[in-house]
Amino acid sequence: MKRIMVKKRLLDGRACEKCIQAEELLRQRGVWEQIDEVVWAEEGDANSPGMVLAARHGVSVAPFFIVEEDDGSEKIYKSALLFLREQLSDAPKTSNETDGKSFSMEDLHSFEQQYASRPPKEIITWALQQYGKDCAIAFSGAEDVVLIDMAVRTGLPFSVFCLDTGRLHPETYQFLERVRTHYGIEISMMSPDTTALQNFVQKKGLFSFFEDGHKECCGVRKVEPLKRALRGYRAWITGQRRDQSPSTRGELLVIHQDEAFAGKDGPLVKINPLAGWGLSKVWGYLRTQEVPYNPLHDRGFVSIGCEPCTRPPRPGEHERAGRWWWEEETQRECGLHIAQES
Ligand code: ADX
Ligand code: SF4
Repeated sequence: MKRIMVKKRLLDGRACEKCIQAEELLRQRGVWEQIDEVVWAEEGDANSPGMVLAARHGVSVAPFFIVEEDDGSEKIYKSALLFLREQLSDAPKTSNETDGKSFSMEDLHSFEQQYASRPPKEIITWALQQYGKDCAIAFSGAEDVVLIDMAVRTGLPFSVFCLDTGRLHPETYQFLERVRTHYGIEISMMSPDTTALQNFVQKKGLFSFFEDGHKECCGVRKVEPLKRALRGYRAWITGQRRDQSPSTRGELLVIHQDEAFAGKDGPLVKINPLAGWGLSKVWGYLRTQEVPYNPLHDRGFVSIGCEPCTRPPRPGEHERAGRWWWEEETQRECGLHIAQES
């Protein structure tokens, strides 16, 4: 078997940014040595070996990977992560995956102090070094793709889950799928418990939240599935920011013990790497790093939840004003996040 990486060299002689990142990823995961050959596709030179391979396989992205089997068959990978997962021996386990060590409240407090003002990427790297696949990114919105993008760039293992309430916009489902294929990651889609959902809908119908508030519906469609998801991890990462809601998120910590939910060994660590970021920083990252985003943002939506409970904020309104807009501002949390003691 032979594993080939095709990299693109730009006209100015530099490798393309995505190729550099992919190589970094493979080096960080300790599997770079398993690449047998690097072939260059020279921009503007259709006869360069990499360009010839790209044309032969009908590939227009860089980098890409070719696996030549001994029987002459070939397999093409356009995603470094998928290639890594399917073709290369796995990376060594992170320290906590192997030793199962957990942190005391004091330890977490001191990590919080140490990382409170550090850049999100450092916080994510810390989390993934500690917990690896036992750490899951809770993914639904723009902030969460920033987290996924940064996590991918660390080259460390991690998990991702999404609470599929069944009431998300079609655009959101397309966006989730786009992120899945763009990064070549697995997203664990958590559905509501069938019996609980059927009983609830039978009793209250499909729009009871407009009458008596969103707590009951969110409880069935989001909170119970979240509880179930978190039972599989030791830490989770969210995209919450302090300025999303001064009344409910103003005191958000970067690292703390989750006081609402339990993890697979009991205590669960919650990490909010973007706590100190404003919306403009999120969008700055999305634009400069060309990260996929939900097309609803181009139609004026800012904070996006379920379809019936989300509308674009009006001019001058706060970014979360379009969530459960018929309720009091202090009630506009669905139960995934409760304020922690600082
Ligand atoms: S909510 O509590 O009002 O719904 P918000 O939409 O602000 O939360 O999102 C804050 C963070 O909660 C997100 O960055 C994400 O980490 C997590 N989250 C929210 N909704 C979901 C969902 N459907 N699936 C997974 N994670 C979610
Ligand atoms: Fe139900 Fe609305 Fe909560 Fe979605 S956001 S779970 S539709 S109340």
